[in-house]
Amino acid sequence: MSDFLGIKSLTVSYDGKVALYNINLKLELGKFHVVMGPNGGGKTTLIKAIAGLVPYSGKITIKNMDIRKYRKLYSIGYLAQRGAQFYDFPLSAVEVVEMGRYRFKESSKVKREKALQFLKEVKMFSHANRPIGDLSGGQQQRVLIARALASESHIILMDEPLTGMDPRSQSSFYEMIEKIKEKHGLTIIMSSHDIGFTTAYAENVFCINRKLIPHNEVVKLLNEPEVARMYGPNFRLTKHFHLPSEEDDV
Ligand SMILES: Nc1ncnc2c1ncn2[C@@H]1O[C@H](COP(=O)(O)OP(=O)(O)O)[C@@H](O)[C@H]1O
Ligand SMILES: [Mg+2]
Repeated sequence: MSDFLGIKSLTVSYDGKVALYNINLKLELGKFHVVMGPNGGGKTTLIKAIAGLVPYSGKITIKNMDIRKYRKLYSIGYLAQRGAQFYDFPLSAVEVVEMGRYRFKESSKVKREKALQFLKEVKMFSHANRPIGDLSGGQQQRVLIARALASESHIILMDEPLTGMDPRSQSSFYEMIEKIKEKHGLTIIMSSHDIGFTTAYAENVFCINRKLIPHNEVVKLLNEPEVARMYGPNFRLTKHFHLPSEEDDV
């Protein structure tokens, strides 16, 4: 048994156009992974492939189990990129969290208690009765994380959850993520196109631009002393987004 989410020879195309090509990755379970890359680089596509929302070729496994089978047995939390979700329905925050409990047979009283507990964990308890549509984007993300916790997902996928958040909200978001990750032993896979504080919080950062940017190319950039002097350590990590991408038309 390997404690990895494995991605092998993953290729995804839309109408014959390749969005991801031959991605091979091993992501350790129980860690906070961040996928970076330019707009259009395939971050959303990768997350959707893991969530089972786009057809792909290749193999995705969790502890050697095909993810299609895994998804039948367990929930995987998924927070879509903002703008991809619709909140035009009359549900309160706590009711959205309760939706995560649909697999479990329990009384509505127990469901409610659990949902409120998870809202507490994401610091949204005081907003429990607010209509989900009235909350800010960042607050909605927190409610969706509470829903993923309610569904007892061990894997949570977040597609650019920080978009539109000010730096202070971003750091409190990261801190909340770290806490729930430790408490529940979660594997988090989050996409970001923005360096922000990502490298300070993430336990693993990888970069895709249609293909996985090879680690040794990232390391090469990390070792450029002039870059280090000019911009400090974090900037060097961002550099790999701008590698000229090989036009591997397939
Ligand atoms: N539903 C779709 N239909 C056709 N092309 C798509 C679709 N979704 C994404 N693409 C294309 O796939 C590529 C990767 O997109 P995406 O995964 O959204 O990248 P990112 O999230 O990194 O910005 C882009 O060229 C995009 O135009
Ligand atoms: Mg995207």
